[in-house]
Amino acid sequence: MAIELKSPEEIEIMREAGRIVAQVLRMLVAAVRPGVVERDLDEIVRREYKARGATPTFLGYHGYPATVCVSINDEIVHGIPGDRVIREGDIVSLDLGATYRGFVGDSAITVGAGEVSEEKDRLIRVTEESLWKGIEAARPGARMGDVSWAIQEHAEQNGFSVVREYVGHGIGRAMHEEPQVPNFGAPHKGLELREGMVLALEPMLNTGDWRTKRDDDNWTVRTADGGLSAHFEHTIAITKDGPVVLTLP
Ligand code: MF3
Ligand code: CO
Repeated sequence: MAIELKSPEEIEIMREAGRIVAQVLRMLVAAVRPGVVERDLDEIVRREYKARGATPTFLGYHGYPATVCVSINDEIVHGIPGDRVIREGDIVSLDLGATYRGFVGDSAITVGAGEVSEEKDRLIRVTEESLWKGIEAARPGARMGDVSWAIQEHAEQNGFSVVREYVGHGIGRAMHEEPQVPNFGAPHKGLELREGMVLALEPMLNTGDWRTKRDDDNWTVRTADGGLSAHFEHTIAITKDGPVVLTLP
């Protein structure tokens, strides 16, 4: 399958999908605090998507049973929200997708519940900064490796590792399109980025090693060594003027 370039009109619709994701993600962030049950977050998404005419992209995707992924502490991605209670000091990664007028928006954020340790706070901050380094590098004429390297360099300079087994992706009518967007790589290498590409950049940073393992639920991905992990994601369009972030309120 070739890369599907999007027209300015299609990017406008994707901005609407992205806005919905961002607005609802913001509500989830406001809801995260010690004592909250994960499943309540899934309920918020169902209610708010209904009100906005959006459908939850993740629900039923390869059988995924919820509208949002909730991944805590050493969990990296794809945690299923259940009866677990969020506790003081947890770091909570929230990953959310919306389908609206046939297009998908995808975004993730990591937040602390109550007071978190200095290490957790720094992991969250550096992961978000790494995402923005990648976004700034995503312009026409640059190569995929420039984006990957911008993310990796910032992470590793700050003493964190980047997950290799899960990567960002092209996005459009489908959540996962070509090309893959690795969070590690070499500058000036790889695919040339072009106007009309829409990509989901999603660095996952660990305090320890980058290796991962999967739980028996076949979804939850966590660090192999038990270290902490944070995840940030935005859906962006590459335009002639540079990157435009679609998953903002
Ligand atoms: N945002 C994620 C991704 O791009 C999560 C999707 S996994 C799902 O892969 F199964 F929950 F949909
Ligand atoms: Co994604």
